[in-house]
Amino acid sequence: MKILSLIVGHDSSACVIKDGNILFFMEEEKLTYLKKDDLPTNLMQEVKKYVDDEVDVFVLTYINFPGLVAPDVFKEYFLEKNNITPKKTIIEIDHHLMHASCAFYSSGFTEALVFVSDGGGRIKGDWESQEFESVFTASYPCEFNLLEKMHRTGWKKWDNNNPIYSMGFAFHMVCDMLGFEWYDSGKVMGLSAYGNNNNNINDFFYKKNNKWFATEYYYKIWLEINYKVKTGLDLKKIKKDLESFQYKADLAYKVQKQSKERSLDRINDIIKKNKIKNFVMTGGYALNCVNNFEYIKAFPNINFYFDPLANDGGTSLGAAKYYWHKLTNDKTRRPLTSLYLGHDC
Ligand SMILES: [Fe+2]
Repeated sequence: MKILSLIVGHDSSACVIKDGNILFFMEEEKLTYLKKDDLPTNLMQEVKKYVDDEVDVFVLTYINFPGLVAPDVFKEYFLEKNNITPKKTIIEIDHHLMHASCAFYSSGFTEALVFVSDGGGRIKGDWESQEFESVFTASYPCEFNLLEKMHRTGWKKWDNNNPIYSMGFAFHMVCDMLGFEWYDSGKVMGLSAYGNNNNNINDFFYKKNNKWFATEYYYKIWLEINYKVKTGLDLKKIKKDLESFQYKADLAYKVQKQSKERSLDRINDIIKKNKIKNFVMTGGYALNCVNNFEYIKAFPNINFYFDPLANDGGTSLGAAKYYWHKLTNDKTRRPLTSLYLGHDC
């Protein structure tokens, strides 16, 4: 059985698997050199080398485009234009489940706890809401049991009980404040090494009644910068402070440190509630390799696997693997042994 999977949206990618084995996986940006490229147009030329004209199952997952009409448009645009005829088409928009699938099947574990943490993923039928932390137990052939999900409902109205931003989103907001691109969280992580604890810089997160919340302060700055919404903050002073390199580094230090504290606490809580010793992390926040090392040191009895395809690009691989195991009940483990999954250069 041959499965072709596409993700449309930032980090667009394609994956082809045959009888459970990966034939091809690549992100569009590797062909166009446009970071985070969102339409897998050029990838389809590569895909053609592996699928001939026919695939058994086509899975489309997408993250940027709401509405029911989009899948038909993409199907026509990507498949019919390339003379590819799927016998069966599946639209899959459970974003965190696809992250979890990618990470779990790549890990080689027979069973695992999977912690998905990212900037935010769409929730089916609800364009304004976003999931940003999910916890699953995973086992073969295709058992993913959702234990916890944290998400926000609504977008433009702050509610202390409905934390609007995630750890990943906090990094995005700092990117905005520092004048970086939206997806330059890695730069913030690197910059944090030059920072110090600065009590004049506001907190991002706090814990109350055993639950994590986000502070409104940075959300206001984000609204001011991106939507010109007047929130009463002295944005001129904030911008003045940010002219100093040390202040920028201290801000990066703050978000790195606070998200470390929060994620360590979350992992500790997840581990305490479950007996499984295999722990898989995925979603964009799992690309924070500095904090990943902290988890290994803090929990020496846990077997960690950090998904190397933790960005959204990995979800096409997750979707292909998910439907292979779901449709065939195959329990064969095929751990990811290489990231060289694209075409020969
Ligand atoms: Fe994601």
